[in-house]
Amino acid sequence: MHVSRRRLLYGSAGIAATTLAGCGLGEGSEELTGFTGIAMPTTTSDRWVSEGAELEDRLKGFGYKTILAYGEDDVEQQTEQIQSMVDEGVEFLIVGAIDNTSLGPVLANAKNAGITVIAYDRLILETPDVDYYASFDNYEVGVLQARHIIDRLGLEERSGPFNVELFSGALDDNNSQYFFMGGLDTLESYLYSGAVAVPSGQTEQVPTATARWDREVARERMAELLDEHYGERRLHAVLSPYDGISRGVVEALADAGYEPGSDDFPVVTGQDAEPLSLKAIQEGTGQSETVFKDTRQLAEVAANMVKSIVDGGTPDVNDLGSYDNGFKFVPAYLLPPIDVTVENYVEEVVDSGYVSQGTIDDAPEDD
Ligand code: BGC
Repeated sequence: MHVSRRRLLYGSAGIAATTLAGCGLGEGSEELTGFTGIAMPTTTSDRWVSEGAELEDRLKGFGYKTILAYGEDDVEQQTEQIQSMVDEGVEFLIVGAIDNTSLGPVLANAKNAGITVIAYDRLILETPDVDYYASFDNYEVGVLQARHIIDRLGLEERSGPFNVELFSGALDDNNSQYFFMGGLDTLESYLYSGAVAVPSGQTEQVPTATARWDREVARERMAELLDEHYGERRLHAVLSPYDGISRGVVEALADAGYEPGSDDFPVVTGQDAEPLSLKAIQEGTGQSETVFKDTRQLAEVAANMVKSIVDGGTPDVNDLGSYDNGFKFVPAYLLPPIDVTVENYVEEVVDSGYVSQGTIDDAPEDD
C-alpha cells in the first residue's frame, strides 16, 4: 500500500512529513504516480461543480488517477471524505475547505502518510500540514466590488449621503475576511466623510456574515434590515460578496417594493459570474456587477502544482507573504480577479468560453 511504501522510502512517516513539507520532493520522487484526492466543498454553487470536473480532466490528462468528492457544506462529511482518500493511498490532496479550521487532525494523518496538501481557493488554517495555496487575489475582489459602488453612485462627484448595507460571506471561510476588508478599506474614506452611511450600523464582519454563503440567509437578513432601518429611507447600494447572496438581496429588495430594472434600484455587487447573475447584469434586472475569477486557470495552477512535484520539481508560486495560516505563511499562487459589468461581460466571460451566451439566456431560476 502507498503509505507503507512511502514509509519504506523515507524511513519514518515523521521524516517524510518534514522532508516533503513545502519544498517539493527529493529522493524517491520518481515513485510518485500523481494519484490525487480532490475534496470540493459543495455542488450548490456552479463554480465548484465545474472546477471538480476541470481538475479531474487535467490530472487525468497527465495520466494520474483521481478521486473527487463533494462535502455538501457538511464539515464532518468532508473530513470523512478526506480520510478515505488518505486510506485509498492518494499522494496529493487538493482541498476546497468548508470550514477553514477543522481539518487539522485529518491533514495530520495525510502528512503522516507523506501526502502533499494543496489548499484550493480557500486557505486552511491552524495546521502546519498545508504545503501550497492556489487562489485568487481575494482582497482585490472586495476592492473591485466597492469600486463598482463608488463608480455607480458617482461618489467622486457627489457628496451623498448614500445609504449602503454590507454583506460578507461565511465566517468559517478564510476568504470572507479578505473580500470584506478589501471592500471596507475601499469605502473607508467615504464612510469617514459621511458620503456613505450604513444605517443599520452593521459594519463588522460578524453581523454582516452569511452562513454557508446561503441565498436564503441573505434574503432574510436583507428583509430584516429594510424592515428595521428603511421605513423612511431609501437604500442606494449593497456590497455583496457572492452572486448567490446578491440574488437573495435582490429578491428581498423586490419584495420590499424596489423595482428591479428601474433607475433607482440599489447598486448590488457580486462574485463568480454565475449564469443567472450574468443574465441579470445583461438585462439590467438585479445586481449590476460580478467579479469573474477564471476558475479554469485556478484548476490549471493546482493541477500543475501536482505535476511539478511528480516531475521532481517545485511548484510555481508568486506570493510568499500574504497568507499566514496561523502556523506559517503558505506559499501561494494568486490569480487576478476581473470586474465584470454589462459593458464587458461578453468579452471577458462569453468570448473567453467561460459561460456561453446560451447558458446565460437559459439559466434556470433559483429554486
Ligand atoms: C470563493 C468564492 C465563492 C464563495 C462561495 C469563496 O471561498 O472564493 O468564489 O463565491 O466561496 O462559494
